[in-house]
Amino acid sequence: SMTQNNVNALAKIRNFTKVIIGNHEIEPWYFSPYPMEYAEDTGELFICDFSLQYFQSRKQFERFRSKSTLMHPPGNELYRDDYVSFFEIDGRNQRTWCRNLCLISKLFLDHKTLYYDVDPFLFYCMTRRDELGHHLVGYFSKEKESADNYNVACILTLPQYQRHGYGKLLIQFSYELSKKEGKTGSPEKPLSDLGLLSYRAYWSETIASLLIERKSDEISVDEISQLTAMTTTDILHTLQTMNMLRYYKGQHIICLTDQVLQNYDRLKKKKRHKLDPERLQWKPPVFTAAQLKFGW
Ligand code: ACO
Repeated sequence: SMTQNNVNALAKIRNFTKVIIGNHEIEPWYFSPYPMEYAEDTGELFICDFSLQYFQSRKQFERFRSKSTLMHPPGNELYRDDYVSFFEIDGRNQRTWCRNLCLISKLFLDHKTLYYDVDPFLFYCMTRRDELGHHLVGYFSKEKESADNYNVACILTLPQYQRHGYGKLLIQFSYELSKKEGKTGSPEKPLSDLGLLSYRAYWSETIASLLIERKSDEISVDEISQLTAMTTTDILHTLQTMNMLRYYKGQHIICLTDQVLQNYDRLKKKKRHKLDPERLQWKPPVFTAAQLKFGW
């Protein structure tokens, strides 16, 4: 679904030295195709973290902020707890906002991305609230119809929020949506290095918690798949990586190892936030054949 960067695109050098998103200053990791003239002057870019509009100077940015009334991503809020909210935005209804989101995303993603053709995607944006509004923390995009049964096309936590558990919340949310659809799902390949690390961490934590909390490892891969919406392929790979598969009397069985138990205890101590599936108010959107035609 996404454009994979070719060698020419990879050769493009980083075009901004500093990006100011809301109250955060970030050093971009990669090139992103903002209009050329924006990068020419100071190498700084100012982005409003509600509208995602971008500006060359702080003055323009502040003038815009003083007039702007948008306080959340332009879609329906599907989930809210004390910690985060999730909004669903249709690429076809909010083209400019979603294209601006993809431009931000490209600053931190190099191996694949999409810029302009946002119509075939829904965007699930996670925010944190303060007195000013819902600030964007991260998002994932999802094809309205995926021939390969992908439940995530592209996933990103803004760098100022990374390594705080938000990536796992985004991943958990993508699987909660798949559960409601009655499907299994997997992220679109290839994964970036950070994407792979995060998915492996989520998959292994989910399987370990399921087994430990059931107080039994007598469960089949198919049952794990039904309970978690993870594909059997991802489950088998994870079990192999965690050294949890044993061959016994002609069949594979799942075993909890000491290392898995220790890792589970370590994660419990971190007391990371988890989403409450009961709070998700969402029905899988249905699109007509005409709505799924994306001609240009
Ligand atoms: N080094 C080592 N382990 C890491 C790192 C890192 N830099 N980042 C994440 N992990 C692992 C850890 O095991 C971590 O769990 P732990 O902190 O409990 O040990 C786990 O991944 C999840 O970490 P989170 O804090 O929940 O994830 P984060 O909010 O940092 O977001 C994400 C992860 C979305 C991949 C982020 O790194 C990112 O946006 N990267 C840039 C864009 C990108 O590469 N996206 C994925 C592309 S693939 C695709 O789109 C399908």
